[in-house]
Amino acid sequence: MADSKKTPARPALKAVRGTRDLLPDQTPLWNHVESTARALFARYGFGEIRTPIFESTDLFARGVGEETDIVSKEMFTWEDRARAASEKAQQLTLRPENTAGVVRAYIEHKLGETGQLQKLYYIGPQFRRERPQRGRYRQFWQIGAEVIGPQSSGSESPLRDAEILEMLASLLTELGIRDWRLELNSVGSTEDRIRYNQALREALAPIKHLLCEDNQRRAETNPLRVLDSKDEADQDLINALPKIADYLSDDSRAHFTQLLAALDACNVPYNLNPRLVRGLDYYTRTTFEFTATTGQASGLGTQNALLGGGRYDGLSEMLGGPRAPGIGFAIGEDRLILTLQAQQEADATTSGTTLAAPKLDAYIAPLTPTQNPAALALAQELRTAGLTVEVGDGTFKLRKSFDIADTLARHIILFGEDEVATNILTLKTFATGEQVKVAHANLIAALKA
Ligand code: HAM
Repeated sequence: MADSKKTPARPALKAVRGTRDLLPDQTPLWNHVESTARALFARYGFGEIRTPIFESTDLFARGVGEETDIVSKEMFTWEDRARAASEKAQQLTLRPENTAGVVRAYIEHKLGETGQLQKLYYIGPQFRRERPQRGRYRQFWQIGAEVIGPQSSGSESPLRDAEILEMLASLLTELGIRDWRLELNSVGSTEDRIRYNQALREALAPIKHLLCEDNQRRAETNPLRVLDSKDEADQDLINALPKIADYLSDDSRAHFTQLLAALDACNVPYNLNPRLVRGLDYYTRTTFEFTATTGQASGLGTQNALLGGGRYDGLSEMLGGPRAPGIGFAIGEDRLILTLQAQQEADATTSGTTLAAPKLDAYIAPLTPTQNPAALALAQELRTAGLTVEVGDGTFKLRKSFDIADTLARHIILFGEDEVATNILTLKTFATGEQVKVAHANLIAALKA
């Protein structure tokens, strides 16, 4: 026989850096957020779309932009070799975001030919190789939506932008997020952006050498990205750069003004932020982010963008599709949840309450292993009647059964030889300490009372 002492201990495997498990004490809040979002999206006429978790790398290179941080440094990409003569080798990527995939599906399924505005939402994991920290993961979840369609469907109207922003404000309020802030900007049409980029390039040329290394590179490759920079030392110089608002065409300006008027009509507060250009290249005109209040209250620290989005009127054409203006957003679900948890903890501290999970209706304790099968059958009967039930094991000592039952459930049902023989069960209610005999036939009613 092999001496087990000589077998070297294997290190326990762990979840990959930047990924995490959500355990059952956490998932109820996730499900609550998702079901609230689904119900609200339905009220605004959105339907769910599910696209694949991996796509061809080219989709993101063309859609999100080669020069963006996402495409240039953060994608999980691999070469998928051909396995059969019918297959081609291809570069695949775990989706870093879902807008490109949704627009690909819109084109592929010719959704534009319906002539209708498409209102699509999704909930699912996204993948970016970022430096993990609180609120920033390599696998994270987004709840997003896109409104897209041919121009004749009204997809370009500023009303659509306002509807999306009003919907988001309602969602955050309904979920109980306090003190959110909407940052809003217009990055203009593609033509406005070309003129603005030129102005930025010219303004950056004489001061470039004063900027950090990353910004020096961005000044060359994609000057707009300099505006995203969080580098402390560069902030004064960046704030003095030309503002996009001064380069908007009359059309873009009018679009933005109409959006603001609709937001005012719906009482959605906003802060105009001329530096909000967002880190993806497909944006045109409206861009926005909702942030949680910084610091401890939000639970997020510097990762305080709860969600981001904007208009992408040229994306469909960039992906080889028809003209199909669109606007959408994606909520960082992990960040939303962290914010809700931080709020709940703060509330519990001030009110002295605890965040207890709801208790089960009953815990069935078979008193010896002989009663195990009948105990399971009783659990089956109660669960079928809609009650939440856990069933113990006849090998457990009575004390242990009571301890487990007390932490898990509102009632314990004792189930021994006598109970099986007489069909009269012993039911104890923990809240009152009351212990009664109940006929099997009356048990469901007693538990529901
Ligand atoms: P995004 O700003 O790249 O936009 O991401 C949206 C949100 O996802 C962020 O505001 C943040 O809350 C969350 N997020 C991003 N990266 C991470 C991460 N590593 N860990 C945790 N959360 C993260 C988009 O993805 C666009 N597709 C949004 C959009 C839809 N624009 C138009 N339609």
